[in-house]
Amino acid sequence: MEIQRLAGILQLDKAADVALYAQVRDFIATEIIEGRLSEGERLPPVRALAEAANVNVMTIARAYRELSDRGLIAGRGALGTFVQGPAEEPPAPAPAAPSPRDTLPNEDGDTFRRMLKVGDLPDIVPLTRAYPDASLIDTGAFEQKIGQILKAKPEYAYSYIAPDGLPNLKAAFARFLERHRQLHCDVDDMIVTSGGQQGISITIQSLVSRGDTVIVENPTYFGLLDLLRNMGANAIGIDMQQDGMAIEQLSEVVRSSNAKAIFTMPTYQNPTGITTSLEKRRAILGIGRRHGIPIIEDDCFSELRFEGDFIPSIKSLSEPEDLVYYIVSMGKTLIPGMRLGFVLAPPARMEQVTAWKSVSDLHTAPLLQDAFAAYLDSAEAEANLSRIRKAYKPVLDTVIQGLAENLPAGSTFTRPHGGLNLWVKLPAAIDPVDFFYACLRRNVGILTGVHLTPEKADNTGFRLSYGLSDRDALGKAVRQVCRAAADLSKRSSSRFPVIV
Ligand SMILES: Cc1ncc(COP(=O)(O)O)c(C=O)c1O
Repeated sequence: MEIQRLAGILQLDKAADVALYAQVRDFIATEIIEGRLSEGERLPPVRALAEAANVNVMTIARAYRELSDRGLIAGRGALGTFVQGPAEEPPAPAPAAPSPRDTLPNEDGDTFRRMLKVGDLPDIVPLTRAYPDASLIDTGAFEQKIGQILKAKPEYAYSYIAPDGLPNLKAAFARFLERHRQLHCDVDDMIVTSGGQQGISITIQSLVSRGDTVIVENPTYFGLLDLLRNMGANAIGIDMQQDGMAIEQLSEVVRSSNAKAIFTMPTYQNPTGITTSLEKRRAILGIGRRHGIPIIEDDCFSELRFEGDFIPSIKSLSEPEDLVYYIVSMGKTLIPGMRLGFVLAPPARMEQVTAWKSVSDLHTAPLLQDAFAAYLDSAEAEANLSRIRKAYKPVLDTVIQGLAENLPAGSTFTRPHGGLNLWVKLPAAIDPVDFFYACLRRNVGILTGVHLTPEKADNTGFRLSYGLSDRDALGKAVRQVCRAAADLSKRSSSRFPVIV
């Protein structure tokens, strides 16, 4: 292998707690185990690689020796050092150097799996978690309901039911929308889903085919981008401003693109945390109406409002003949991990969306639906909501303070009024992939803009999610992220000196 190529891809972090020789060893081991360095390939001489990577000769020598002890490489005298190929049962790579295949920013449409892998690495603090801590959720009442239903109405638990969901849960969701979002709906337009993600999936599938285009906010939710990628559909990004999408750009793209839908998250947008102003919500609705283009409004975080006035959803501003789809998840507030949510579809489009729900999973488990219906109207559920809302305001303050005090010059970040995500823009010189690894070496997992932007869009930002409510751990992790950014900004500026 040419020295330059190996030195170029070798990601060393001199500030990390992991010794440099171990970083080199684990990096080369992963390359061999995953087949990017193949059997018989010659490795660069120790001295040459040390020079190219700007480390001590002993660092490379020790890494080679340990790789040789593992049987992954072997010296052949004057001919040099060669890859042996992985042993029958390759030793697991050390946690400090996770496999790039599992952790590199997404290119194949499963960011969620990669994100969990990163979060599960030993000692990693996941600043990727955008749902509340289980410790804040009192599930006693919900568990009790499950027990009661299994005893009293086993037919609910063990039957197949209609795809659009149980009437009592739909009615409870409708009451919830009135109580919390001033949104009045007809339960006939509602489909209960297995989480907000399924709501997105069945709505998009009812509107979009391979080769079609969807207009999205830039940056946007990775679950949407991955879905489009997997369907062979395209995403065009509209820049996010402080008060929502750039409306002129949106108008222009709608006119010129023949897009099949506009996807927006007006309240505490994922990943930026931005709230779209009332004026812009009206403007988006107007554009949808004028051009007959469906609007998909994803509203998952509304109840997590820490400050600012309530702003009505696009759905509640719309008329029944407007093509507005409204998607809600219960995973961001009341019941993370239970996979419950719903879609409100335009009346004329209910059948298509319901058909996609049917072919997706027939229906959502009735036991869950029935128990949740009873729980949603309870005082416990309301108490949970206010506990979560109260808990996360100081958490957000901790994050903002950490960023304000420690980010390198030239960075900016959003200050959300609610939700569990914010967006940091790094100085342009910092490569997002380098940054992802630098954070990982400091034991922090993040999602970079590479995961969250349509192709070719500017991706020099990263999402910081603060679902983890331990403020100490979170504050430390934020400082580590800022140090990683500061190190990289120094390094890149010394690599590319500005000539004045
Ligand atoms: C904006 C947004 N929509 C939808 C989802 C998916 O929701 P659920 O977990 O209920 O599938 C998420 C989850 O992160 C999200 O952030």
